[in-house]
Amino acid sequence: MNQSLVKVSIFTFACLALVQASEPEKINFESIHHDHPATVALLDEVNKKCPEITRLYNLSEPSVQGRELIVIEMTEEPGKHIIKKPEFKYIGNMHGNEVVGKEMLLRLIVYLCEEYIAGNNLVTYLLKHTRLHIMPTMNPDGWQKAYEEYKENGTVSWLNGRSNANGVDLNRNFPDLNNKVYAHEQSETGRNNHVMKMEKALELNSDLQPETRAVMKWLAEIGFVLSSNLHGGDLVANYPYDETRSGDSQDYTASPDDKTFVYLAKSYSYFHSKMADPTRKPCDRKSGDSFKDGITNGGAWYSVGRGMQDYNYLETNCFEITLELGCDKFPPEDRLESYWQDNAVALLNFMLQTHIGIKGVVSNSAGEPVANAEVKVTDFSTGDLVDHDVLSLQGGDYYRLLSDGSYQVTVGADGYHPSVKCVVVKNDMYVGSNDAKEAALLDFTLTPSTEAKPDDAEVSARCEQLQSKAGAESDVPEEVNDVESEEAKVMELTEAEERQVLQELLSYMDGRINWSSLSPNLALSDLYYALSVELGNLDPKTRLEFMRLLPTQMRQQLMSQQ
Ligand SMILES: *[C@@H]1O[C@H](CO)[C@@H](O)[C@H](O)[C@H]1NC(C)=O
Ligand SMILES: *[C@@H]1O[C@H](CO)[C@@H](O)[C@H](O)[C@H]1NC(C)=O
Ligand SMILES: *[C@@H]1O[C@H](CO)[C@@H](O)[C@H](O)[C@H]1NC(C)=O
Ligand SMILES: [Zn+2]
Repeated sequence: MNQSLVKVSIFTFACLALVQASEPEKINFESIHHDHPATVALLDEVNKKCPEITRLYNLSEPSVQGRELIVIEMTEEPGKHIIKKPEFKYIGNMHGNEVVGKEMLLRLIVYLCEEYIAGNNLVTYLLKHTRLHIMPTMNPDGWQKAYEEYKENGTVSWLNGRSNANGVDLNRNFPDLNNKVYAHEQSETGRNNHVMKMEKALELNSDLQPETRAVMKWLAEIGFVLSSNLHGGDLVANYPYDETRSGDSQDYTASPDDKTFVYLAKSYSYFHSKMADPTRKPCDRKSGDSFKDGITNGGAWYSVGRGMQDYNYLETNCFEITLELGCDKFPPEDRLESYWQDNAVALLNFMLQTHIGIKGVVSNSAGEPVANAEVKVTDFSTGDLVDHDVLSLQGGDYYRLLSDGSYQVTVGADGYHPSVKCVVVKNDMYVGSNDAKEAALLDFTLTPSTEAKPDDAEVSARCEQLQSKAGAESDVPEEVNDVESEEAKVMELTEAEERQVLQELLSYMDGRINWSSLSPNLALSDLYYALSVELGNLDPKTRLEFMRLLPTQMRQQLMSQQ
């Protein structure tokens, strides 16, 4: 061992000793399937352990069989909405027999509490700037039914416990707003957001279940910005729309925010240790659904009407995606730990995405907040209006998730002149980024329409500048076409060339060993093995980036090592 390595080891050892000495008592968490009383008890324990950053509450109605729909709020200063602090939610176990999401959320809650106490930078940042609401189970009755089969038989049949206690699939029970908005698109009239008032939707849909109603009221009450609902049975991040525009059972159905949703879905799949892996085996070996980048548009997969995801997007400001966390809906308890290893970074990374895009406060010239102002954006890279507005909340604050690009933002409200600003969005929110920053701040002051329209020459100049720049960039031909031919060429690697690539990669990853002198004495499979060990030491994202660099032929070799 050289001297600097020795120093590092001593230093690490000293730090470990320090951490252990001051480490507070841990929450007693077991990797088991938590039944309802155990779930509530665990949330209570976390609340007691971390009272300053947690609050427990129930949704307005319990499940059919009377189990409370319990939520834990996690944030600094819990209990109230704070202007410019965006609201986020995770919902687990909507399908009662899809239980991995529930257990991941319970584990996540414990993790957030303990890491906050330990001073973890990322967790502290998240809880300072975001209000998180986590509901581990939306369907505790279905869970109980599935669990009884699990206890008796060790496995759970594909559909047992999926529905609620009335036999209704909750993800087919929300009001259908898609067909309404598709009609508005056709006629170019009518709302493109908040499509139907909740009161009216409750009245029109007499078949709504208590669990559905409770969630609808929750959504109307809290100005959620970003959300995911966690399912099982496949391994993919699914984004709107779920219900096809054409009415076909499978048809890619882009929402106006397709680009942003693709970004959001990848912000999970890329940070999961297997989801985006191009060489992983599909869950359904017959039909062989394999999802490029670990993501899919809902309609392209299979059309779902009356789902929760599309309802969020069409009735509230909230962008929701649906995460399928694994092939097995109800795995044995001893596999829960490895699910956590696969999902932990992705769960954190997705929550950070609450901070992409822009946010700000809309007020009038008297300095009063303007609620329900419409925030419209035009994407300069396409020149098109993104046909989905968000509304400002009661305090005048708004949150507009956007992927990288330059945009014109127009804010309008009844009785005021519209106000325009232009902005470049460059998101840098992901686990491992060094200078994570919140959404770009863009406040608006509206002038009453009874007064003269304010002069905005400066704004116009900036908008024109951004617009022409974006136009110039989109003229640059894309290089994507080269990729395939490149890959085909590398496919024909000779063994010597393959050895050379492995040797270079290994030298790059572990420079302490002279791989060029060692390599001739090793079998190719030994080199693959060494590389797989090195890759295993990397964080999931970097690992995936390395995997992408490899020709398919070598990637497959590598995967067969693991
Ligand atoms: C939630 O509901 C249950 C059952 O009615 C009740 O015992 C509990 O106190 C409620 N929890 C909270 C945080 O209000
Ligand atoms: C256990 O499996 C048997 C045989 O498939 C089935 O009849 C039974 O209903 C299962 N038990 C439960 C609780 O579902
Ligand atoms: C590694 O070994 C090769 C062949 O034995 C030698 O030529 C080279 O100089 C060595 N490289 C280093 C960095 O020691
Ligand atoms: Zn499901």
